[in-house]
Formats: sequence, C-alpha cells, structure tokens
Amino acid sequence: MARLRVGVLISGRGSNLQALIDAARDPGYPAEIAVVVSNRADAPGLGRAAAAGIPHHAIEETRRAAFAEAADRVLRAAGVELVALAGFMRILDLGFVEAWRDRMVNIHPSLLPAFPGLHPQRQALAAGVKFSGCTVHFVRAVVDSGPIVAQAAVPVADDDDEERLAARILAAEHRLYPLAVRLFAERRLRIAGERVLVDGAAAPPAAMLNPSDNRA
Ligand code: GRF
Repeated sequence: MARLRVGVLISGRGSNLQALIDAARDPGYPAEIAVVVSNRADAPGLGRAAAAGIPHHAIEETRRAAFAEAADRVLRAAGVELVALAGFMRILDLGFVEAWRDRMVNIHPSLLPAFPGLHPQRQALAAGVKFSGCTVHFVRAVVDSGPIVAQAAVPVADDDDEERLAARILAAEHRLYPLAVRLFAERRLRIAGERVLVDGAAAPPAAMLNPSDNRA
C-alpha cells in the first residue's frame, strides 16, 4: 500500500523531524516524509532533511499570507496528505489552517490544554505539577488547541530545572509523534467534536507509551 506523504514544517533544531525520518526508515512504517519546509534558512533541521535525501525548502517570507501561499504550493506539489508541525514557531495564516483542517497536526511539550504557548516546561515547573508531558493534536485557529490525538506523561522530579524537564519530555515526544502519525496514516483516527477516537487499537495511545521506557 502507498505510504502516506507527510510534509513537515520546522523552524529550528528538528529533533522531532529526525524522529519521524527515523521511523519512516522502516519500510513497514505507513508514512514517508515527502518534503520539509522551514521558515528559517539557518534551521539545523534542514540539514537533517538533506542528510536523509528529503526535498527541503526555506521560505523566509515574513508576511503571514505570503508564507502560507508559498508553503501551500510546496506541500501540494510534493503530494502531501498530512502536514506535521515540528517546532514550527510561526503563527499560521487562518486560510492555511482551514485548508489543512483535520490534515495538520502539531506537537507541544505539555499535557494540553495545560500550558499552551511559550515555555511550557517553565510554566509546568511554576505551577508545581507532578506530571507533565507532550501532546499531539490536530491544528485549529487558536494556538496549541485542537482535538488531541495522543499524549504521553512524564514525571516532574523535585530537582528538575527547565532544561532537565524539557529533555525528559523531548524523549517522550520522539516516541509519541511517530506513533500519532502512524495512527493517522493507518486511518485509525476519527474526530468527533473535540475528541479523537482511535479505531482498532488494543489500548488507547496514551497507554502505549511507558515514559520510563527509553527505546527510540
Ligand atoms: C519541541 O519541544 C516541540 O514540542 C515544540 O518545539 C520543540 C521543537 O523541537 N513544538 P525540535 O525542533 O523538534 O527539536
């Protein structure tokens, strides 16, 4: 069966992009990374795409609508069926969000709806929560909102600082994003209002991840 064509939007480091690239190296994985788009030419993630032989584009257009138009053109030319935001740090044009509705996901390093926006790990520490984690969700107009596909929880340690907590969450992100994209690619997700129902799963996706399990 043809693999789902995924377009990844990045702004920086690209470690989640790398996790998706690594997952797609397995011929049995139901998705492939068709194209990578960055809004910054100096994003290290572009080098990861290049190293993997994946077409990649820097679109350094600061006007929101013009960026959206250019990105949309690239994604459609590459036959993209799912857009995955992976550390993409720009607010997207509303028309773009609507055009890709239910076909665009994002990953955020908190258990949404807690701690949306910037510095979610700092927010989690300030709030004193004992668990935080990461969320993959369908993208809607409001930043870091939208039906939740999957979440993974990680414990917050008493001596955590922002960096340590971020690293623990990031390790969970690298397992969660490939899992969420797999569920989409296998057509197992159904959006019902604010909820995403997973068909055919033996267990809900959150339970598929053990935070203390450090497999890549
Ligand atoms: C990740 O923590 C992701 O959840 C957030 O931005 C960060 C991007 O990291 N949206 P990377 O570029 O994937 O390494």
